[in-house]
Amino acid sequence: MSDFDHVAAQMPDPFRLLWREKVSSTNDELRALAEKGMAEGLVLVAEEQVAGRGRRGAEWFSPKGESLAFSVLLRPTEQKGFWSRLSLIAGLAVAEALERYVTLAEIKWPNDVLIGGKKIAGILVEAGRDFVIVGIGINVNTEAFPEGFAATSLRVERGGEVVREEILLEVVKRLAGHAGEIGSGFDDLMDGVRERCFLTGHRVTLKCADRRREGVVKGIGSAGELLLEADGQTEAIFQADEVRLVGKGF
Ligand code: BTN
Repeated sequence: MSDFDHVAAQMPDPFRLLWREKVSSTNDELRALAEKGMAEGLVLVAEEQVAGRGRRGAEWFSPKGESLAFSVLLRPTEQKGFWSRLSLIAGLAVAEALERYVTLAEIKWPNDVLIGGKKIAGILVEAGRDFVIVGIGINVNTEAFPEGFAATSLRVERGGEVVREEILLEVVKRLAGHAGEIGSGFDDLMDGVRERCFLTGHRVTLKCADRRREGVVKGIGSAGELLLEADGQTEAIFQADEVRLVGKGF
């Protein structure tokens, strides 16, 4: 019996919940199931991750029982070139779910979710040959963070505990609603990201594979790309390893 049992029955079709006390990383364990042919829609949630991963191989801090760490298995029918769009969609789903508890959750392109400029959730999307794993970590009831982390939690923001399983259910419902829109309908969906875009209007530095760029963010394009204005020209950035606000270090 886990805290999550009562939301298992409320998952939208074809989503279903698998709870684990302790895993290495929900992304890694779900990938192993996907490679064995597991059907789309499995949501693996763990109380504790001993090797939770962030983007670019970073460790993911998720204290046992306080945070939410889960991964969702999708098997998109759209062309593979669109699959990376799922990270923006996941960020939007998380922001919308959190806005049941706070007035505004912002999206730091491509896939961090922030409240008041501090990170509350991170997303790690990984693709296999015929599947995508959407890994989501949310700071729900975390009370304290390691020194130097510009992070927050729902508990810190609201001043009280929040029921983790309700957030999980809400995120899965939002993701279920948006996941089919990575092809047609994606530009309309981007309006939700544009409204919450933390970077718009700010000067940023971007670390991309080939070089570093600096400019002012003008917004989000129809394919989810960041529109960066530098030297009077607007460039479309589809991927970046790191994005920092100039002068803020975040
Ligand atoms: C990031 O911001 O760098 C992404 C963090 C993603 C963390 C989640 S927690 C659930 C899933 N399992 C993992 O090992 N990572 C993701």
